[in-house]
Amino acid sequence: ERKPVGKLLLFGATGDLARRMLLPSLYGLHADGLLPEGLTITGSARSDLDDKGFRAFTRKALDQFLSEDRKNESALAGFLDRLDFQAADLSDESTFQALADKVGDVAGGLAIFLSTAPSLFEPAVKGLQKVGLAGETVRIGLEKPLGYDLPSSREINDTVAAVFPEERIFRIDHYLGKETVQNILTLRFGNSFFEPVWSAQGIDNVQITIAETVGLEDRAGYYEGAGALRDMVTNHMLQLLALIAMEPPARYDGTAIRDEKAKVFRSLRLMKPEEVPHYTVTGQYVGGAVKGEIVKGYDEELGKDSDVETFVAIKAFVDNWRWQGVPFYIRTGKRMAVRRSEIAVQFKPVPHSMFSGRGGLLQPNTLVIRLQPEEYIELLVMAKEPGLDREGVRLREVPLKLSLDAEFAGTRRRIAYERLLLDLIEGDPTLFVRRDEVEAQWTWTDAIRAGWDANRTKPRHYPAGTWGPAASIALTERDGVTWQDD
Ligand code: BG6
Repeated sequence: ERKPVGKLLLFGATGDLARRMLLPSLYGLHADGLLPEGLTITGSARSDLDDKGFRAFTRKALDQFLSEDRKNESALAGFLDRLDFQAADLSDESTFQALADKVGDVAGGLAIFLSTAPSLFEPAVKGLQKVGLAGETVRIGLEKPLGYDLPSSREINDTVAAVFPEERIFRIDHYLGKETVQNILTLRFGNSFFEPVWSAQGIDNVQITIAETVGLEDRAGYYEGAGALRDMVTNHMLQLLALIAMEPPARYDGTAIRDEKAKVFRSLRLMKPEEVPHYTVTGQYVGGAVKGEIVKGYDEELGKDSDVETFVAIKAFVDNWRWQGVPFYIRTGKRMAVRRSEIAVQFKPVPHSMFSGRGGLLQPNTLVIRLQPEEYIELLVMAKEPGLDREGVRLREVPLKLSLDAEFAGTRRRIAYERLLLDLIEGDPTLFVRRDEVEAQWTWTDAIRAGWDANRTKPRHYPAGTWGPAASIALTERDGVTWQDD
């Protein structure tokens, strides 16, 4: 039911995500008066803290991760007042009664957020159910990773489904909380001029890049079991692809939008093992320099040899009427040259150029949706350079640019988790990932992994601070396509 809850229970409350994102986001919502009045927030973790200790912990995290202009003493005090804490060991059955006592009556609604290792999901939901913290007024948010392949993801989904119905499960993909990601919907379905060309008729290819400059970041345990494909493609990148490729939903609501996304995932062309080497490139960074700083290679950071990919590039196809034959090139990597997330939609060239031989080459139009680090939307168009050229006209590619940072300078740029936590608290499922989406995503990526296994694919080395292995460039160039803005 779409109703704000009166209580929030946060598992993993002393973890890294909580410090960096969740607590600052909740504070941001509080400071802007967006949290339901009287909402209490119970933190929980293995740490042996009491209420006071958790408030001190939170205060420290906020001091560290809030920007100066967001710090307001009275808002901070008001926020800390909402907090209490219950230590819990989710693998210990006896832990749950104390939690239930602490949380108290949940008739006014409870939202639970599980930011813990997925191995704890099962004991957590079972324990919660036993002590009456899974009833109709309770909804649950799940943080990734939700499995590492289709079978493990199904197992997690089954476990949670045994206690919570799908309508009360909120699976997080934090990319969906980003403003510019939601803006893809506005751009496509709030304007009339894109849609007529938004298909194989008008579009030559789509490129989705998430380049990061960070490396392993103390996450060896997790990342070794994941790699770039599972960490970034299965979830974030496929979500971006779906928003670009989906049919127009009839309404802005969770059912309509997720139905359309799920259809895209089910239309992704599954690769046969022998096709995988042709359509994918994997890489792993070795020592190099990122933004002028010397950094170690992945193996060195890890302290052992590993075949885990820290880079992946894929040529994907959406096999439906609209997208027949249009390649979707996807690439993501750690320790790349710059931090950049962006989607580039490259349109078809004009059918006939009247300018040929008279002043220059026409570039096909490109729509660039930049998510990070800046947020803007840019349409690259051909224009005439001013001048009295006798030979004809001099053409140049110029941007029509909408900078969201500048256009909406008066509004605060929010952390993706602010949107998502607020939606969890208010019960709006639109920006959360439904079970059928997750399972279709795994089905497609599992086929790629199976191909790597069958072909004993090893990642190619690339120096830190570059755009990945040269083979990634070849992946598009052999189709006559160049990665946008390399
Ligand atoms: C997370 C991945 O889901 O997304 C990380 O596990 C990655 O490896 C992060 O760094 C990227 O998120 P953002 O919002 O910084 O692009």
